[in-house]
Parts: sequence; structure tokens; C-alpha cells
Amino acid sequence: MTDTSSIPFDSAQDLPSLHAMLDLVKMKNGWAKPTPSLYPAPKQHFVPAHWKFADARPALHAAGRLVGTDKAERRNLIMANPIDGNDYATVASLVGAYQMVKAGEVARSHRHTPNAMRIILEGGPKAYTIVDGHSIPMMPGDVLLTPNSCYHGHDNQTENEAYWIDILDVPLVQFLGPMFFEVHPDALERSQQVSPNASMRFAFADYIHQLMDSQELAAGVKTLLLGPPTLSTFDRTVVHLKAHTVWDLPASTPNQIWVVLKGQGTTRVNGQQFEWEAGDLMAMPYWNAFQHTASEDSILIRMSDAPLMQFLGWHRSGAGFPV
Ligand SMILES: [Fe+2]
Repeated sequence: MTDTSSIPFDSAQDLPSLHAMLDLVKMKNGWAKPTPSLYPAPKQHFVPAHWKFADARPALHAAGRLVGTDKAERRNLIMANPIDGNDYATVASLVGAYQMVKAGEVARSHRHTPNAMRIILEGGPKAYTIVDGHSIPMMPGDVLLTPNSCYHGHDNQTENEAYWIDILDVPLVQFLGPMFFEVHPDALERSQQVSPNASMRFAFADYIHQLMDSQELAAGVKTLLLGPPTLSTFDRTVVHLKAHTVWDLPASTPNQIWVVLKGQGTTRVNGQQFEWEAGDLMAMPYWNAFQHTASEDSILIRMSDAPLMQFLGWHRSGAGFPV
């Protein structure tokens, strides 16, 4: 084609003047970038972090006096990774939040494109998440899924406050763009039936036996992948650590959130030491090697975006390119 640009590129006598002309056509040079776009190994952005249920519980109890579920979509606390400029994501693709619904209270039904799950810390047989018309009981240690576009609301018919941890892939959806959200036309979706055996529920009373009956992955370590059903972007693995087990995990590309269901122990990462107990949550961003040490028999659950990394061909563990 003929040169019809109104910018006199041919008159540029040096790179600064060429760069100035490029600014006029909203182009960036690729030969002197201020930061490289390609680099030999993952750069750290998010940091490993630890939050205590011992802090979240009284904070949510106080919020129960000050924030009504009629005023807020959810009464929750966001575990925002403590890096500059971030007020939401726990790791690059996932967010973790503590949530509380008071005795006798409901949280209205809504649906959204982000996939969600919850891990129950305190509940009861009459504390329900209503998923697509099924009242699913929330017992301590239960794991409940609410995939992309499923209506879900909460109805606490027990005498006590119910507490749980939500994990969602909202940061990934925000990054890529396909966010949709709407509330249910009935505010709280009417429940058709109580469904303790719903496929969206992994009851602690069931999976604990499967976990304990499984083979050891390493000395003192048993794991169980919870599924199907699955969520397309992130998975859930329950882990049993025998008392005094030390488990080293290599750096890997999946972003991870760890939640402690039972027990006590320590996680060491990058010279930091997290002393954890039941209900605590840890952010373990991509490409951090870490070590769990259980001081007593412990059960943890790991959420990770490994399914996404595998689908995209970017799953790596311990080394960069496959050998
Ligand atoms: Fe939701």
C-alpha cells in the first residue's frame, strides 16, 4: 500500500523522535519496553498470606449487629491478598471470604457466572443453602458447590449463627470479562425439598471415610479429590496429615487457597511461618514451594485452579518446561 500516514515517520532521525511519533498513533515500541513481557519463570505478584478464623468470627458477629442481609448482598469478609492496590482477590484467579448468617435469618437468592463453593465451619441440619430449589443442609466440614448460573440463597433455621468460607473464581471472571449477576425474582428462592444427598454437597460424614480409606500419597499424607460434580475452573482436594507429618510441596503453577478443617500445624513459605488451626485460610499463589507440618492429626482442604492450568497446557510442578 502507499504511505498515507499523516505522521512524518520518514523524518525521524533518532529513536526518541520515532517514539514520540508512535505516541501520536497510540503504538508502543516493542524494542525498548520499560518492563519485559516475557521472562524465564513466573514473577511473583500475589504473596503467601494467612487469615485466622479467630479474628474473622468475632468481626462477623459484630457485623451481625451493624449489617443486615436486607441491606447487603452478603455479610462477608474478603481475604484480599495484602499487596498494593488489591482489595479483593486472594490469589490471581480466586477469592476466599468468610460469611455469617444469623439464626432465623435468610440471605436472598442470586446467581452469577462465577463458580462458587462453600466450606461450612459452623452450621447444622437446618442451616441451608438453597441451590436451584433444593435445600442443602450445611453441617460443619461439608463442601457445597454452586456452579456458574445456579441460583443460590441461604436460610438459617437453627438457633445459632452459621459460619462458612466461600471460594469463588470472581477475579478470573473480572479479568476475562464475562460477568453476569441477577437476583432471584422471589428474593429467597422457594425450596421444593430438603436434599441432604444433593450432588452439589460433599458431606463431611461421607468423604472423611473415603479420605481415611485412601492410600498414602506420601508418609503421613492422604488426599482425596472431591468430585464429580466439578467446577470448570478450580478443584477441591481434602488432605489428612497425621500428627508430626512434614510435607514438602514443590513450586507449581496453580494458584491455591488452603483451608484448615481440623487440627493444628505450621506452614513455612519464603521464610514466613503461619501457625494455623481450624477455620484458618491461607493464600498460596503460583510458584511458591512450601512445607506443611502438622502438630496434631489435621484435615485441610486445598482449592486450586489446576483444572484450568491443565486445560491450557500451563500446569508445571517443580520445574519449568516438561523434560
Ligand atoms: Fe453468590
